[in-house]
Amino acid sequence: MAILNPTLACADPLRLAEDVDALIRGGAEMLHIDIMDGHYVPNLCLSFDQAAAIRRYCPQLPMDLHLMVENPFAWLEQLAELAPDRVSFHLDSTPFALRFIDRLRALGIRPGAALNPSQPLGVLDEVLACVDFVLVMGVEPGFSGQRFLARTPERVGALAGLRRERGLAFSITVDGGVDHVNGPACAAAGADILVGGAFVCFGQPDGIEASSRRFLAAV
Ligand code: DX5
Ligand code: ZN
Repeated sequence: MAILNPTLACADPLRLAEDVDALIRGGAEMLHIDIMDGHYVPNLCLSFDQAAAIRRYCPQLPMDLHLMVENPFAWLEQLAELAPDRVSFHLDSTPFALRFIDRLRALGIRPGAALNPSQPLGVLDEVLACVDFVLVMGVEPGFSGQRFLARTPERVGALAGLRRERGLAFSITVDGGVDHVNGPACAAAGADILVGGAFVCFGQPDGIEASSRRFLAAV
């Protein structure tokens, strides 16, 4: 049984509050906020101001902020002000991952490491014991609507194996390209939280609420 964590990157900006309501009725237990700087990834997404408005509208749902930025340290002030429940950052975006993890903890934010599809699990080695979660990307970061990479569930399974072997308690989130078929495969492999975007909660013929429920019934 995995948790549904919809990405508001896919919501209709002109109907954001209605979309959030529909996601909650559909069973969302967390909200995923994608922050891009146009440098780490060649795109922009939600802003901290928009994230703050979402937090004010919906304080009851944990906010999961995904930083796709060149220098995560440059955003600490905004993170302190927003105070999301958890934040993931890409391990190749800073040489000082452990220091950034400490900074997040000092702000009372649960830290997570994001892993790109081309990165071997080994790059997580020294941080696994320090993070609360790992965000396994199912696509290259930066854009919604890309095709899910087929090796992802296997990578999730291997990470879940490491977790078992080392007796660690981090949770595993999968982000990017998740759909009604590969989502259950990721959950079966050990994923605890699935980011629902273009193929799960949004753009489905049965609408946000029903497609979210349909997804949850499958995972
Ligand atoms: C991709 C972002 C994802 C994305 C979800 O860089 O991190 O959260 O919006 O992708 P889709 O919508 O394709 O599932
Ligand atoms: Zn994301």
